[in-house]
Amino acid sequence: MQNQDFIYKVTPVLPELGKYSSEAPSNIALVKYWGKYGEQLPKNTSISYTLEECKTKTEVVLKKKIKADNQFHFEVFFEGKRKVSFEPKIDVFLKRIETYVPFLKSFEFEIHTKNTFPHSSGIASSASGMAALAKCFMKIEASVSPEISNVYSEHKTSFLARLGSGSACRSTGGKLVVWGEHKEIEGSSSFYGIDYPYEVHSNFRLFKDSILLIDEGQKQVSSSLGHNLMHNHPFAEQRFQQADNNITKLISILTSGDYEAFFALVESEALSLHAMMMTSSPYFILMQPNTLQVIEKIWEFRKKENVHLGFTLDAGANVHLLYPESSDPMVRPFIDSQLLSFCVNNKVIHDQIQF
Ligand code: PMV
Repeated sequence: MQNQDFIYKVTPVLPELGKYSSEAPSNIALVKYWGKYGEQLPKNTSISYTLEECKTKTEVVLKKKIKADNQFHFEVFFEGKRKVSFEPKIDVFLKRIETYVPFLKSFEFEIHTKNTFPHSSGIASSASGMAALAKCFMKIEASVSPEISNVYSEHKTSFLARLGSGSACRSTGGKLVVWGEHKEIEGSSSFYGIDYPYEVHSNFRLFKDSILLIDEGQKQVSSSLGHNLMHNHPFAEQRFQQADNNITKLISILTSGDYEAFFALVESEALSLHAMMMTSSPYFILMQPNTLQVIEKIWEFRKKENVHLGFTLDAGANVHLLYPESSDPMVRPFIDSQLLSFCVNNKVIHDQIQF
């Protein structure tokens, strides 16, 4: 399915009033998306685990306009308070999805949103936030067009979320989600995320993600700026190729259950993402001294104790410590005794992936 498949076929009969709520989780990429083209299409395939605890909960409250006009009328409330600073990003989102959700200008609406994780934690909420909002809009569509199929609805939700924030399309459904067409993954698409369609070894079906909060500040570089730095980047083509090769490698790792190969690939992906930022123009270092200290500690501990664990990073300083459930009895005391002191106010968020 592509753009034109997601355009309304009939003019829906709209309600006068309505309330639609939904929630969506955050995700953590194993193979990273960094670089886009056209309308939020990825330059390479990415794959992510869907988290269980870190979520955004959103409610959209609609009231039909008395007099139709050609403007979006909406207000955003975060944790009960008006949040004007969130509105420009939502406005861009609404403009991008207008072709596919044509009734938005017929309503005045309020968007009420909150996260289950602390807002200032440095955890990106754009994936879960845009995914939750896309789900609300699809609920409206389902209520006015009850004939739409589940498959259409799943694909369109992810398609819309992508137009809000690329990685959000991996947060609308599924536990291990692939986004971006890849020749070895049947059904994969650059327009929306799909559930990883192949066998996954039990080693990778109950995984912990302990997020070590190294920096709570605002991002130094927004994702859209970061993606744009991949245009004219000296290593861009090699990076996109590397990511696609890593998807191929990951398919066999996920079947075989090879922890060592898994962590080698996931860590290399995280460091490659940061290497792209360090070698772009302008360049950025998003890791902090404590990020490196934590990485050193993880490697030291892994070598000494022969325990299955590894890390990944997003476009920021926080470290996601990934490990299977079986490593939990060793890793939890390690976090408490050796890593917490590198975190802001000793903060860590323990999340997990299960399927
Ligand atoms: O969804 P965006 O545009 O915020 O991009 C985020 C990209 C990374 O989080 C850095 C990597 C990924 O694949 O999630």
